[in-house]
Amino acid sequence: MAAGFSLVLAVLFFHPSLNSFLVGSTDPNNPFYYVRNFHLWTRRHPHQTRDLAMGSRSALAAATFQSKQTYVIIHGFLGSSTDNWIQSLKDALLQREDCNVVSVNWSAGSTTAEYFLIQPRVRTVGAEVGQFLQFLEDAAGLTTQQIHVIGHSLGAHAAGFVGKALNGTLPRITGLDPAGLRFHQAEDVDRLHHGDAVFVDVIHTHGCYTLFKMWEDCFGIDENLGDADFWPNGGESQPACEQGGDGASSVKDGSSCNHGMAYVLYIESINYMPSSTHFLARQCPSWKYFNNKSCPCGHPAQYMGFNADSRVHGVFYLNTSMTAPYGLLDSHCSAGAFTLVQIIGLLLLSVLLVLLLLLVALVLIQQYFGLPILARVRARLYMEDLVWHGLGNSPSTHILNSEKAVDT
Ligand SMILES: *[C@@H]1O[C@H](CO)[C@@H](O)[C@H](O)[C@H]1NC(C)=O
Ligand SMILES: *[C@@H]1O[C@H](CO)[C@@H](O)[C@H](O)[C@H]1NC(C)=O
Ligand SMILES: *[C@@H]1O[C@H](CO)[C@@H](O)[C@H](O)[C@H]1NC(C)=O
Ligand SMILES: *[C@@H]1O[C@H](CO)[C@@H](O)[C@H](O)[C@H]1NC(C)=O
Repeated sequence: MAAGFSLVLAVLFFHPSLNSFLVGSTDPNNPFYYVRNFHLWTRRHPHQTRDLAMGSRSALAAATFQSKQTYVIIHGFLGSSTDNWIQSLKDALLQREDCNVVSVNWSAGSTTAEYFLIQPRVRTVGAEVGQFLQFLEDAAGLTTQQIHVIGHSLGAHAAGFVGKALNGTLPRITGLDPAGLRFHQAEDVDRLHHGDAVFVDVIHTHGCYTLFKMWEDCFGIDENLGDADFWPNGGESQPACEQGGDGASSVKDGSSCNHGMAYVLYIESINYMPSSTHFLARQCPSWKYFNNKSCPCGHPAQYMGFNADSRVHGVFYLNTSMTAPYGLLDSHCSAGAFTLVQIIGLLLLSVLLVLLLLLVALVLIQQYFGLPILARVRARLYMEDLVWHGLGNSPSTHILNSEKAVDT
C-alpha cells in the first residue's frame, strides 16, 4: 500500500499537469481553493447556464436567482460540472419541478493517478459549497429546507461534507454510488454518513471490495452509509452493463458502466410518480433473502431514487431491467401504504361498522317509538321471554311486553 502510494506520488511528480491541480484557485475574486464556480439553471433558462460566484450579489441579481427548491449537484473524480449526466439530471429535475439546479465546478483531476491527491480534497470542497449555500441564504433568502444536495462518486462524499459544514441541518443528501477507495471502513466524520442530513439516501451500483484490485474492480463502496441504502441488483454490478444490456450507452462521460448506472437510475426515477411501483424497493437483510422472495413489500412502500420516502429507513433491494427503461414494476406490491389484503380488511370492517350502526338505530327507534319490529324478530327467532325480562322494568320493556300480549 505504502509502496503503491509512493509510486503514484512519483508518477504524479513527473506528470505534466501537476501544476494545474496541485495549486488551488488563482482567481483573486474567488475565495475558494478547490471550488471554481457554480452553474445555475432554472425553467427560465433551462439550457443556458448562469454562473454564480461566492460573495457576488451582482451575479445573483443578473441570474435572477429566486429562493425555491434548489438541487445542488456535485460531480466526481475526473468529472466536470457540465457532464452529460448532469445535463440530463438538470433536464429531468426542471421538467418535474419549478426549481433551481446548481452544479458545482471543482477541480477533480484529469488522470487516474491523481486520485490519491484529489481524494482528501472532498472535505474542503464540501466546506466551500456549504459556505456558498450560506451565502445564498443570506443574500437571496434561500432557506436550508429548500436545499437537496446530490453527489456522485467522490462528489457523494463531498455532499456529506456539505452536510457536516451545515451541522446536519440539510433536509436531504443523495449519494450516487459513493466512492470506495480510501473510504472503506473510514470514520463517520471522514465520509458520507447518515447524520450529515435529516435524510441521507444512497444508491450503490458498483459497491464491492477486493483487496488486490480494489481500484479496477469497484469504484463504489460495499458499506451502508445512509438512512436508506439501495442495492439495485445486489449493488455490486449491474445487468445493464453485462452482455445484452445497454448500460454502456446510457452511461456517458467516461465513467465505468457499473459506477455510472447510479446516476442513470436516479435520473430515470425522476420521471416516475410514487403512485406507480417503478423502482419499489424491499427492505431485506441480504440480496440472497431478496432473491428467495422472503422480503415483504414494506408499509409504507419505499422507492429508490427521487421518490424515496424520508420516513422509511433501512437497507433495500430491487431488480432493474437490462435495457432502458430500467425501472421495473413490482407487481406484488401496491403503491400506497396499504396492500390489497389490508384494503379488503378495511372494507369488511367498514361494512361491519355500518351494520352495527343500523342495529343501534333500530334499537333506538324501537325504544322511542315502540315499533313492533324487534318483537317480530324475537317471535321469529323463538326467543325465550326470560331474556327479555332480564332487561328490567323500563317503560320500553313494558311496551315490548304489552305488544307481545297484543300479538298473541
Ligand atoms: C470549471 O473551472 C475551470 C477553472 O476555472 C474552468 O477552466 C472551466 O472552464 C470551468 N468549467 C465550466 C464548465 O465552466
Ligand atoms: C455548526 O456548529 C458549529 C459549532 O457549534 C458552529 O460554529 C457553526 O456556526 C454551525 N454552523 C451552522 C451553519 O449552523
Ligand atoms: C432464504 O434464504 C435465507 C438465506 O439463505 C434462508 O435462511 C431462508 O431460509 C430462505 N427462505 C426461504 C423461504 O427459502
Ligand atoms: C432479480 O434478478 C435476478 C437476476 O435476474 C433473478 O435471479 C431474481 O430472481 C430476481 N429477484 C426477484 C425477487 O425477482
